[in-house]
Amino acid sequence: MALMIALWASLWPSGSSNAPNGSPETCWSKECVGVLAMIKNYQNASVDPCEDFFEHTCGRYSEHVMDDNSWGYVQYKQLLYQVFAIARKTNKFNSKPNEQLRIFTKSCLDRKEMDEDTFQDLRNDIEERGGFPMIDPNWNEEKFDLSDMLAKYLSINRNRMGFLSVEPYAAIEGNKSVNRLYVSPGPHWVYNWAMGISIYKDSVAFMLRRLLKLENRELNETIYDKEFAELVQLEANFSTLADYRNLALDNDNMSKSRNLTDLVKMIPEIDWIKILKALARHGTSEEDEEKLLERVTVHGAGEYFFGENRELARIATETPKSALANYLVVRQLIDVALYFYDKDQPRQNKFYNHVDQQSFCATQVASFFPMPSMNVFIESSQFKIENLKVIEEMFVKIKAEYEQIFTENEYLELEIREFLIRKLNAIDGKFGLDQYTEGKPLLEKMYETLNFLDTDSPWQVYMKMWRHWSEQLVEHIVHDTPLDPVNLKMFGTHAAYQPYPNHFYINLPYLTYPWMDADFPANTNYGYLGYVIGHEIGHAFDHFHRKLDESGRQQQYWFTETNSSNTEYELREKCLRDQYSAYKEPGYDFFMNGTHCRYEIAGDHMGIRTAFRVFEKVKKEDRFRLPGLEMSEEQLFFYNYAFRQCDVYNPNKLPRNMLARQHPTNRYRVNGVIQNIPEFAEAFNCPKNSPMNPEMKCKLY
Ligand SMILES: *[C@@H]1O[C@H](CO)[C@@H](O)[C@H](O)[C@H]1NC(C)=O
Ligand SMILES: *[C@@H]1O[C@H](CO)[C@@H](O)[C@H](O)[C@H]1NC(C)=O
Ligand SMILES: *[C@@H]1O[C@H](CO)[C@@H](O)[C@H](O)[C@H]1NC(C)=O
Ligand SMILES: *[C@@H]1O[C@H](CO)[C@@H](O)[C@H](O)[C@H]1NC(C)=O
Ligand SMILES: *[C@@H]1O[C@H](CO)[C@@H](O)[C@H](O)[C@H]1NC(C)=O
Ligand SMILES: *[C@@H]1O[C@H](CO)[C@@H](O)[C@H](O)[C@H]1NC(C)=O
Ligand SMILES: *[C@@H]1O[C@H](CO)[C@@H](O)[C@H](O)[C@H]1NC(C)=O
Ligand SMILES: *[C@@H]1O[C@H](CO)[C@@H](O)[C@H](O)[C@H]1NC(C)=O
Repeated sequence: MALMIALWASLWPSGSSNAPNGSPETCWSKECVGVLAMIKNYQNASVDPCEDFFEHTCGRYSEHVMDDNSWGYVQYKQLLYQVFAIARKTNKFNSKPNEQLRIFTKSCLDRKEMDEDTFQDLRNDIEERGGFPMIDPNWNEEKFDLSDMLAKYLSINRNRMGFLSVEPYAAIEGNKSVNRLYVSPGPHWVYNWAMGISIYKDSVAFMLRRLLKLENRELNETIYDKEFAELVQLEANFSTLADYRNLALDNDNMSKSRNLTDLVKMIPEIDWIKILKALARHGTSEEDEEKLLERVTVHGAGEYFFGENRELARIATETPKSALANYLVVRQLIDVALYFYDKDQPRQNKFYNHVDQQSFCATQVASFFPMPSMNVFIESSQFKIENLKVIEEMFVKIKAEYEQIFTENEYLELEIREFLIRKLNAIDGKFGLDQYTEGKPLLEKMYETLNFLDTDSPWQVYMKMWRHWSEQLVEHIVHDTPLDPVNLKMFGTHAAYQPYPNHFYINLPYLTYPWMDADFPANTNYGYLGYVIGHEIGHAFDHFHRKLDESGRQQQYWFTETNSSNTEYELREKCLRDQYSAYKEPGYDFFMNGTHCRYEIAGDHMGIRTAFRVFEKVKKEDRFRLPGLEMSEEQLFFYNYAFRQCDVYNPNKLPRNMLARQHPTNRYRVNGVIQNIPEFAEAFNCPKNSPMNPEMKCKLY
């Protein structure tokens, strides 16, 4: 904060505006000055913008951050800390949801209690769910029932149980959006970070040592190594069967999905009905249970559930029972260890890549209590409601611009053009506050059944929290409650295009300074959030999603190889892919992979183009302008886009992770994008064939 004030102060003397009558007034709000300060301070004016616009815009950004994080991440963390700090210093909130958030915050930070916990409660819980051969020499194989144990663990850990994970999604049925439950392979399906158990070997050993200590026993490392290796192998067998590499795309291919009856027939060795019913709250009516089962959709692609060889059934019946039981317990222990283990881990540092426990807990609070976090945020930060009106207008204008682009396009055949425009017009916008206001009464209801006590141990708090999530998931599926308790990413800077059911979604924290402001001129709001909206809508028309209709169903359009729209699209996409594949990030000895990144490249490319076109149309309506008088409106548009991508070269980023990125690096999210925009070259007077103004420009639509 001190830093920012210093920056503003250095700018004041230059201010002498008094614009002529009728033209916009200079905006001296702290938001406008703040943006200008960032543009000026991050810039390295000795770099020619036509040579390297990213370096020109961000060359001195690293002087203004304490750690090596990108601009976006730094701002996001500040937002989280605002809520976190309030939660920590408040003794009691007056609403139940906020109170639950407060107790969770306290538990997450309670190192002492975590260190002193004997794990007797955990040990008892493990026993109730079917025992743990890894630490119990008397474990009775005869009593083992895979379905029973899976049911008991899935009910607290819905997405990482090896055999399956469950996830809500919205489907269009008739003209209505209906919530359904997607049963897919687990545990990799949902979150990449839940990948393979192998990296958790140390933290699981830590949990085992503490559990064994209850009986004054010690961990035999030799045996542990062997048993753990067996579990890694078991999980590898799940993932080979699921073919995770190709799963992401199949997710979009709902035409392949099947129903629960089919699954029960296919693999009767597992009691799927019992497992799914266990998600519901104890005492749920039979009628609601039936409804839940009816709403199950099963992943139908590939070999996983419906492969002819019935490999999954083979794993269920032929794997040693002790290994199956160990696997289920270990997956749950990993989730507990996430909080209790505070040592460095291979591939993940302390606190799962957070600088310290506070930073870790700040993110945990935001992701597990997004709605209450938003309550605290709004109640404390005087959220500027006008921003919402502005974003809705922007959304409508960007959509209209897409329609214009499709209409002007000279290669799309009539039928395809109409198909795209129909889909475009059906894209619905969901803005943070809609969800917030619709959700607020529901929120109270949602937290009626979560009852943390101030006296609960951290372990008890986590157990209640996980279980509550599963129960809420069932409520959402069965009663179509609009709040999806699993995908409440609303307290973050998050925007998305959801192909089912063709939604644009942006959450509330994104609709606030420094990302946007109702009083910002068009160059500032369109330069960034206009681009974000355009990017997400662009995903509806990227390599894959262009083939899906407004209900997310795949259509034959585009499929014929000889179809001229398709061949032309492929050519133009190749132009972009080749361009990006020739980019090399300084410090790394490989090139980017334009094919791997093609979805995001398409989003960026179309996002900035639509945003710029709208900006040019609406800039004359501006009431205010930023105080930086020496820059043109067009230049400011591009600066506003670029400075929010500023990043610091961080040699710790592993080449492997760099290559796995779906998004181009920040440098090329700037330079790659602007090179294809003639208006950039015009705005900065870039000579023909200068690096930022190559002759060869790509244009997808
Ligand atoms: C600014 O750019 C110039 C030219 O590339 C370079 O020599 C200088 O080190 C840069 N300044 C900073 C602070 O990075
Ligand atoms: C869906 O809505 C459209 C337009 O409102 C209408 O023509 C159509 O009959 C509706 N379909 C169903 C299944 O309700
Ligand atoms: C660990 O178990 C192995 C195999 O049962 C045994 O040979 C070894 O002595 C044990 N190590 C310790 C330290 O007890
Ligand atoms: C994994 O699959 C391989 C090959 O089918 C098999 O030999 C092995 O026993 C399986 N491992 C486990 C732990 O299930
Ligand atoms: C999706 O399903 C359709 C019809 O079964 C198939 O033709 C197409 O190849 C699938 N696409 C993907 C990406 O799996
Ligand atoms: C499940 O799908 C099959 C076709 O795969 C169909 O015959 C059956 O009627 C469906 N069952 C239910 C309960 O919808
Ligand atoms: C391409 O597909 C569209 C939509 O099915 C169709 O109208 C058009 O005739 C096709 N063109 C060619 C050249 O196959
Ligand atoms: C780039 O990514 C594509 C798609 O993921 C992959 O098939 C290809 O092998 C990659 N190319 C290189 C050079 O790594």
